[in-house]
Amino acid sequence: MGIELRLEEEKDHRIVEELTREAFWNVYKPGCDEHFVLHHLRSLPCFVRELDFVAELNGMIVGNIVYSKGTVLSDVGREQEVLSFGPVGVLPAYQGQGIGSRLIKHTMELAKHLDYKAVVIFGNSAYYQRFGFEAAQKFAISTAQGKNFDAFMAKELVADSLQGISGRLYMDEVFFNIDQEQLERYDSAFPAREKKVTITQLKGD
Ligand SMILES: CC(C)(COP(=O)(O)OP(=O)(O)OC[C@H]1O[C@@H](n2cnc3c(N)ncnc32)[C@H](O)[C@@H]1OP(=O)(O)O)[C@@H](O)C(=O)NCCC(=O)NCCS
Repeated sequence: MGIELRLEEEKDHRIVEELTREAFWNVYKPGCDEHFVLHHLRSLPCFVRELDFVAELNGMIVGNIVYSKGTVLSDVGREQEVLSFGPVGVLPAYQGQGIGSRLIKHTMELAKHLDYKAVVIFGNSAYYQRFGFEAAQKFAISTAQGKNFDAFMAKELVADSLQGISGRLYMDEVFFNIDQEQLERYDSAFPAREKKVTITQLKGD
């Protein structure tokens, strides 16, 4: 398959938001909010423009990954910048063909060259283990609420970069404080789709 990876450009924004909506719709909850998050994330200081990549097939965008910066804050007030990726999405018709893996591997390699030290994510542990992610707990990193669970994972881009960096992860509020009214208004400009409860929503992570 002739997949090409390139940086996202401004002209791609709407197409990529449509793609994100298609990829996430009804997967983790009825409907989705990832396209709305992405729409706002791009203009925030935490957004990492150099790692905002699309996958193109014959000129059509079929996948996207974006990164943002977060902070691990220790009990004694020490701060360590970390990266997190997401949303990452591939159009349903193109999933399972290695496109997501290519986007993840390519951008993590680039992140390393850009001197980022580590990536912390929330996602399906069975999927992300293959990229070397391990439970964040292993690095003594917890969520901002002090929680740990399988879906909360970390990976060092530089060996031992998370050694001695323990604490809570703080990410931008854009991921957590989603105004449902604004989301509905934003979503109403997309093609109508039915919100449903699906089997993928019951899996837990
Ligand atoms: C997750 C996603 C980006 C992966 O992209 P992709 O191109 O389908 O992935 P690849 O082809 O590189 O890898 C496919 C493998 O990932 C697995 N996989 C994909 N999504 C998965 C998920 N949510 N949970 C567990 N495994 C998953 C597939 O079962 C397949 O496994 P196999 O290699 O053992 O057969 C894509 O499936 C997608 O957009 N999903 C919906 C949105 C989403 O869940 N995004 C990630 C949020 S954490």
